Amino acid sequence: MRIPLFSCLFLIFICFCLSMSAGQKDKHCVDWVGNQQSLLLQWKNSVVFDNASSTKLVHWNQNVNCCLWEGVICSGGGCVIGLDLTNESISGWLDDNSSLPSLLHWGLASNKLKTFPHFLRDQSTLLALDLSNNEIHGEIPNWIWNLSHLYSLNLSYNYLTTLDLPLLGMSSLGVLDLHSNQLQGQLLAFPEHATYLDFSRNNFSSVTPPSIGNFTSFLSLSSNKFYGSIPESICNATSLRLLDLSNNSLSGMVPRCLFKMSKFQYDWDQGLRVLSLRKNNLIGAISDSFPRNCSLQTLNLNDNQLEGKLPKSLARCTSLEVLDLGNNRIEDVFPCYLKNISMLHVLVLRSNQFYGPINCPGPNASWSMLQIVDLAANNFTDKLPIKNFSDWKAITDERNEAQYQLSPIRFEDNFPFSSLPTGEAVLPYNYRDVVKFYYQNMVTITIKGVQVELVKILTIFTSLDFSCNSFDGPIPSELGELKSLRFLNLSHNAFTGHISPSLGKLTNLESLDLSSNKFTGEISVQLAEGLHFLSFLNLSFNQLGGEIPNIKQFATFSESSYEGNIGLCGFPLKEKCTHEEPPSSPPTSKDFGKRIDWNFLSSELGFIFGFGIVIGALMFRKRWRICYFKFVDKIFFNMFPQFYIRIENRGRRAHRNQKQGY
Ligand SMILES: *[C@@H]1O[C@H](CO)[C@@H](O)[C@H](O)[C@H]1NC(C)=O
Ligand SMILES: *[C@@H]1O[C@H](CO)[C@@H](O)[C@H](O)[C@H]1NC(C)=O
Ligand SMILES: *[C@@H]1O[C@H](CO)[C@@H](O)[C@H](O)[C@H]1NC(C)=O
Ligand SMILES: *[C@@H]1O[C@H](CO)[C@@H](O)[C@H](O)[C@H]1NC(C)=O
Ligand SMILES: *[C@@H]1O[C@H](CO)[C@@H](O)[C@H](O)[C@H]1NC(C)=O
Ligand SMILES: *[C@@H]1O[C@H](CO)[C@@H](O)[C@H](O)[C@H]1NC(C)=O
Ligand SMILES: *[C@@H]1O[C@H](CO)[C@@H](O)[C@H](O)[C@H]1NC(C)=O
Ligand SMILES: *[C@@H]1O[C@H](CO)[C@@H](O)[C@H](O)[C@H]1NC(C)=O
Ligand SMILES: *[C@@H]1O[C@H](CO)[C@@H](O)[C@H](O)[C@H]1NC(C)=O
Ligand SMILES: *[C@@H]1O[C@H](CO)[C@@H](O)[C@H](O)[C@H]1NC(C)=O
Ligand SMILES: *[C@@H]1O[C@H](CO)[C@@H](O)[C@H](O)[C@H]1NC(C)=O
Ligand SMILES: *[C@@H]1O[C@H](CO)[C@@H](O)[C@H](O)[C@H]1NC(C)=O
Repeated sequence: MRIPLFSCLFLIFICFCLSMSAGQKDKHCVDWVGNQQSLLLQWKNSVVFDNASSTKLVHWNQNVNCCLWEGVICSGGGCVIGLDLTNESISGWLDDNSSLPSLLHWGLASNKLKTFPHFLRDQSTLLALDLSNNEIHGEIPNWIWNLSHLYSLNLSYNYLTTLDLPLLGMSSLGVLDLHSNQLQGQLLAFPEHATYLDFSRNNFSSVTPPSIGNFTSFLSLSSNKFYGSIPESICNATSLRLLDLSNNSLSGMVPRCLFKMSKFQYDWDQGLRVLSLRKNNLIGAISDSFPRNCSLQTLNLNDNQLEGKLPKSLARCTSLEVLDLGNNRIEDVFPCYLKNISMLHVLVLRSNQFYGPINCPGPNASWSMLQIVDLAANNFTDKLPIKNFSDWKAITDERNEAQYQLSPIRFEDNFPFSSLPTGEAVLPYNYRDVVKFYYQNMVTITIKGVQVELVKILTIFTSLDFSCNSFDGPIPSELGELKSLRFLNLSHNAFTGHISPSLGKLTNLESLDLSSNKFTGEISVQLAEGLHFLSFLNLSFNQLGGEIPNIKQFATFSESSYEGNIGLCGFPLKEKCTHEEPPSSPPTSKDFGKRIDWNFLSSELGFIFGFGIVIGALMFRKRWRICYFKFVDKIFFNMFPQFYIRIENRGRRAHRNQKQGY
């Protein structure tokens, strides 16, 4: 999932060089074209690397033309213009000054370098440098900014701590990726001409620099310690396509103009597409300023203190795929007017103050792509109108394994190379090609009682969470048609009636939570037989009775899955089922009502009471914690490695596939 930026640069070089090869000589390698092979071999001898894991360097030899060596990039004219020595276990050089004539590209990602290669300071024609994913500590040397042609610099995934900020402001870089280092201090300015700036996952402690270049398309400052308010001047950056300020300490109101930036005007001015401000301390209402032709695909405002109503103009954002407004204080009815957004995959309204029914009048829903719906911890009431909500195409279609592999929601954008700074022509600046990059959406959801951060949203990840509301009535039987559903949480509502055996048709279900409702009757055998993949079950605190089916997955759950029901018996509960009754007349729920064990009930009440006191303190801030707290001791770190998720549980944290999560 790497951004194929450099491969695109290669493409450009190659095109460039092909155009040059028509009789013309490559100007910049005239001085070494005769002996480049021997210079490369000489240089190789000074490289310290592990030949056991090398796949390129190790094969370089005199008998083959060097342009055919792995890792060597040549122009059409047979001139070496770059080296791509990614993942070669290079740890340094015997002679740090042994150099080659200046190249355009140096790819040294994923090696074992501990310092910046000294010889690079003489590479005056260098255009693209990739030192990402090494072990470089300390400061970014100042000579980097003296490389006057450098367009793209990738230093991500190192241990860098300092950066000379005035020089950064003056640099002419177009692409600067510094994410996942330990850079700290104030950030005062951005490189003026940059199109792509990634400062995320560092330790910057600063206000947001007020001026953002007019060329900047991608800007991520996420997971630092930026504070203060979001400057209005950010809206001067008319090229912004992605703005990620998430997971900082930003405060104040969201500038009104920021939402206006999401205006699609022309093919070459497509407006803001991704706006993530999650995990900050922003206040105030979301301003009603989404423009016509709204271009937003992702709007993530989760975990702030936003209040007021949801603006109606949001309905103009008909390209929205991810809408995450969870953990705020929005007080409104269910936004039926968003139904026209047919691309919506993720709808999170969790833990706000939404109220009333979610039954939208009018023609049936066009939300057919919905795969994650989280309405938990609001004040929604009335029946659950599953059919009216969506036709659930994304959840009813059974998919094959091939489709399971790779379909993250992704974001692509184009960087016109015409925005390169002008100067002595090293590259053909008029070459109009594009670079694509991914944006991995990150969404927080709660499954199996644990807060989970989905770093990649694969389309097979399907979850419905309606918990902690006041929904009532029976479970709609149509729920059984959502065959690809994996997580279902209806807990802490007022649902009544039997647990429909049709839920047994949800053969992909991994987690089912129906606790703290008013379900009656028995647990049907069809249910237990159908749910092959169930690894989490909670039926506690209902009014269920009868014998627990001790088959399939149902034989693996513990007592806590069933506690607090008045009439359940059999394994794993201590209550033995009494089989004296004639089997011809199976007990009805009424019969169980007569058999209430008052001792049992009062001890349960004691438990609930004690529990209530413990969580009482937590309730003051966020209501959803009731649901959250209940399972805090059940942590499933190894749930679904295939989803590349990170599980966050307050202080405790487990990382999976960390490198892949953006
Ligand atoms: C920088 O390198 C990292 C790791 O090698 C990669 O994931 C990222 O996409 C690169 N950034 C750019 C802008 O190409
Ligand atoms: C590394 O390669 C060189 C030359 O190809 C060889 O002489 C040497 O034995 C190799 N070392 C190891 C550890 O394989
Ligand atoms: C890097 O090289 C190691 C062997 O040294 C190999 O196992 C690994 O898959 C390579 N990684 C990539 C991204 O090519
Ligand atoms: C490389 O050059 C630097 C100064 O340019 C010098 O300090 C250093 O000693 C040289 N290193 C070697 C191995 O010759
Ligand atoms: C950068 O270049 C300027 C002049 O072009 C020079 O004065 C300065 O010393 C150089 N800085 C470094 C760190 O090489
Ligand atoms: C972050 O920066 C602060 C100083 O601003 C420092 O005390 C702290 O150790 C740094 N944290 C990391 C993880 O580098
Ligand atoms: C930024 O670009 C837009 C459109 O190209 C232009 O209208 C605006 O004046 C520019 N602003 C600055 C500060 O250069
Ligand atoms: C938020 O940022 C902190 C560092 O400031 C980091 O440790 C944490 O992993 C980030 N959380 C997320 C969800 O990105
Ligand atoms: C940037 O925005 C601010 C306020 O929003 C405005 O006063 C200023 O003139 C703008 N600057 C440029 C260069 O457009
Ligand atoms: C919306 O975008 C179209 C191009 O797709 C453009 O023709 C139209 O003028 C835009 N409308 C507004 C109000 O900007
Ligand atoms: C939804 O779209 C239909 C036709 O595309 C339109 O008639 C209707 O007014 C729209 N509804 C809303 C709430 O915007
Ligand atoms: C929402 O529920 C909370 C707690 O259940 C209650 O205090 C509040 O009054 C309710 N708000 C509305 C608007 O119904």
